[in-house]
Amino acid sequence: MSATIRSYRGADEGALLELWRVTMTHDRITPSVWRTKVLLDPNFDPDGLLVAEDDGALVGFVLSLVRRVPYFLQGLEPENGWITAFGVRLDHRRQGIGRALFDAALARMATLGRTRVAISPYTPNYFIPGVDVEAYPAALAFLHAFGWQTISTPIAMRAELTDFQIPPVIADLESRLRRDGIAVRSVQPTDLPALMAFTVEHFGWDWYRFAQEYLLALFGAGADDIGCWVAAHGEEIVGYCQHRRERFGPFGVAPAMRNRGIGRLLLFNSLADMVSRGFHCAWFLWTGQDAARLYHLAGFRQMRQFAIMQKSL
Ligand SMILES: CC(C)(COP(=O)(O)OP(=O)(O)OC[C@H]1O[C@@H](n2cnc3c(N)ncnc32)[C@H](O)[C@@H]1OP(=O)(O)O)[C@@H](O)C(=O)NCCC(=O)NCCS
Repeated sequence: MSATIRSYRGADEGALLELWRVTMTHDRITPSVWRTKVLLDPNFDPDGLLVAEDDGALVGFVLSLVRRVPYFLQGLEPENGWITAFGVRLDHRRQGIGRALFDAALARMATLGRTRVAISPYTPNYFIPGVDVEAYPAALAFLHAFGWQTISTPIAMRAELTDFQIPPVIADLESRLRRDGIAVRSVQPTDLPALMAFTVEHFGWDWYRFAQEYLLALFGAGADDIGCWVAAHGEEIVGYCQHRRERFGPFGVAPAMRNRGIGRLLLFNSLADMVSRGFHCAWFLWTGQDAARLYHLAGFRQMRQFAIMQKSL
């Protein structure tokens, strides 16, 4: 074997991603996924990411991890280590490079006191649950040659939703459950205390983290960026107003309902909402002279004026 094994360096990123692309063919990633799921993982240690270099080029890699920080109350799992990705370039296979990479990664994990290594269920930053048996037959053969055992066989699934409909039997089920006092509905903020306790109690910390990630976006900072106000007349909407962060609008009232102050109310409520979210100004790019008078009432001043130009040919 002419390749040498060494630890990953920051400057290897481009070459490593290219190596990933040609070896982990069914699980390609973008540079941003690489940075967020690997390099910025608090457990990432360049010494656990071993690369094989041959004549100045990266030809193989193995990404191994042990916990350096506890995973919620799951802790450090001091007996466990994981390998989440590996590959050797096609033109360098069957030269012992995979073996040398694995030997080095496993020796390091043994030195760190690990007694069990799994491919690849490392929460939360795994890429795939294990070796895809159809996509990576060579990896399976390679691992078998070194005594790795299959401990479970999870499957991935997909449904086509184009003509998806709720069948009558499920609708009946819903009514039956409702009679029993069980309603299935979208999550409300009032559900959060019970929901978070439920995820941990029944499904553990990784599910808690997964739920938390989505709920942060649903109820947290991202959701706070956007406001939408409506003016309703009975069940009819007669005006609305939106903003994203400091950008205000568009905003409009039904022609038949104008000149009654509805627009003013929408505007002022919306601006009060914006300031309570921590935004210190409001701006927009496009209005006419008439609406400008209304905006003026709320403290808007002209910042720029544009000339839209045209030429008849
Ligand atoms: C799995 C992989 C890393 C092996 O790399 P490698 O450098 O070719 O492996 P080695 O040369 O060290 O192989 C060591 C032994 O493993 C076994 N082995 C490796 N590849 C094999 C294959 N395709 N078929 C049968 N046995 C194989 C052999 O026993 C081999 O010893 P030998 O060549 O003396 O017979 C490589 O095939 C690869 O990159 N595959 C695609 C990426 C991948 O599947 N990643 C895992 C996704 S979960």
